[in-house]
Amino acid sequence: MATEITTTGKIRIPPAEIEYATSASPAHTARIFTWQGELYRSIPQSSLPMWKQLTEEGLLQELIHERLFVETRETDLQLEGAALVLKHDRIPFVSYPYEWCSAAFQSAAIQFLELNIRLAKSGLATSDAHPWNLVFDGTTPLFVDYGSFVPLEQIHRADFINQFRAQFWYPLQLMTSGHGRLARTLMQEYSQPIQEDELPGLRYLWRRGWLRLAKSRGHSRLGRGAQKLARLNRFHLQRQPSTEIWIKGLERWKRRVERVRLPRQRTFWSHYYAEDYPDHAQPETWSEKQITVAKVLEELAPATVHDLAGNSGWYAQLACRQGRQVVCTDNDDLALNQLFQREQSSNSGMSLAYLNIVNPVGPHGTIDARGSRLYTAVEQRLQADCVLALGLTHHLVFTEMFDFPFIFGALSQFTRKDLIVEFVSRDDEYVKTWWNDSYDWYTLENFCDIARQYFEEVDVQDSSPAGRYLVVCRQRRNEP
Ligand SMILES: C[S@@+](CC[C@H](N)C(=O)[O-])C[C@H]1O[C@@H](n2cnc3c(N)ncnc32)[C@H](O)[C@@H]1O
Repeated sequence: MATEITTTGKIRIPPAEIEYATSASPAHTARIFTWQGELYRSIPQSSLPMWKQLTEEGLLQELIHERLFVETRETDLQLEGAALVLKHDRIPFVSYPYEWCSAAFQSAAIQFLELNIRLAKSGLATSDAHPWNLVFDGTTPLFVDYGSFVPLEQIHRADFINQFRAQFWYPLQLMTSGHGRLARTLMQEYSQPIQEDELPGLRYLWRRGWLRLAKSRGHSRLGRGAQKLARLNRFHLQRQPSTEIWIKGLERWKRRVERVRLPRQRTFWSHYYAEDYPDHAQPETWSEKQITVAKVLEELAPATVHDLAGNSGWYAQLACRQGRQVVCTDNDDLALNQLFQREQSSNSGMSLAYLNIVNPVGPHGTIDARGSRLYTAVEQRLQADCVLALGLTHHLVFTEMFDFPFIFGALSQFTRKDLIVEFVSRDDEYVKTWWNDSYDWYTLENFCDIARQYFEEVDVQDSSPAGRYLVVCRQRRNEP
């Protein structure tokens, strides 16, 4: 159906051309959709008063200006069932909460509380408390769901805080106490938030202990005391607090989250760049590998770059300085935390995400009307024009039982066009100790032969230290 211009000169969007991102559930009061590659939101007549309240007092403009809410504009577009169509900015690389490093997760929790403090001052709140409405633009978590703003009196304080605990506080506790993998796995079950008795250790048992005591020792003096406390607690939770008390409560939570100490223990890779992080502004101090990667990136000129297994991001920062849109991923939370903190001060717009290339999370969640999964595969969300995979493939071969087709199969999923991958030969000091006769296929020649099945052009350049090579693969083939 052709796009139609109405008598008032406005463009009417043909419903067949749009794709809704959410269901038609009445809980979705302002549905998000894509049209011609851009992101929009349809506001029904019933939601117009909220839009007016937000914009007429300038609150939404303030939230956008202070980077608490994604850039959003009113449009002239017309759509069946919509009283107003809004346009949102598109975020280049969308990562899901279970892909955030612990520093990012902490920052998202703080931002969410700050947003609710600001909303409460105008008599508003978000209808629920979970991280799935936040999207990182570089290191800034932006709230994106305009549809979940509601009058403050509509939310139930105790439910909101319990949700906040399950969706933000417990995952953060798990991540910062060395159980990050557990937190990430549990968070993939979006509709089943973490419960306090799923947390390891006895830290939270006291919260339930006295309620249990009340039940089991009903007739004793201790039991009666506990029952009284339980009644008081129920009464306290059912009361809706004044706005002032609500804001004070949120500010207390914010301070509590800010005080959380990020993990500092050493991991195998957390200090990889500790002594060798040359200044990007001084190319004369760079290694041969760094000089060659910089040169090849200039030649390929990709608009977007994914530095995969990028550790704390020397090459990702190099690509940023060349003006590219960059995402850096790794499966070491501490290395990513270092990069996140550095990026927060430099503000280069780089995105970061936790990614284990051995086990990338595919499309998941329920199936929608078009037969696709609600949550998109990581390969799709973090795909770039060029992927860097440096200092990685020998680990995949010797510790993860990968062979060359597995390597190129996995890496090529993340690139739209090109790949710069490092090959570390048998002459390297580490590979020497791992190599034996059963790896006689592990040669640069075989590596390049397999690369040619996935890419149109393959070219080898020297890397450093000696015995390492940069294999530059151009133009991914659609079929290997
Ligand atoms: C030798 S460092 C290379 C860092 C950087 N790419 C470079 O060349 O300077 C290897 C990196 O690979 C990461 N890594 C190892 N196995 C990984 C996996 N399965 N998925 C993602 N990253 C991985 C490590 O955490 C580490 O940061």
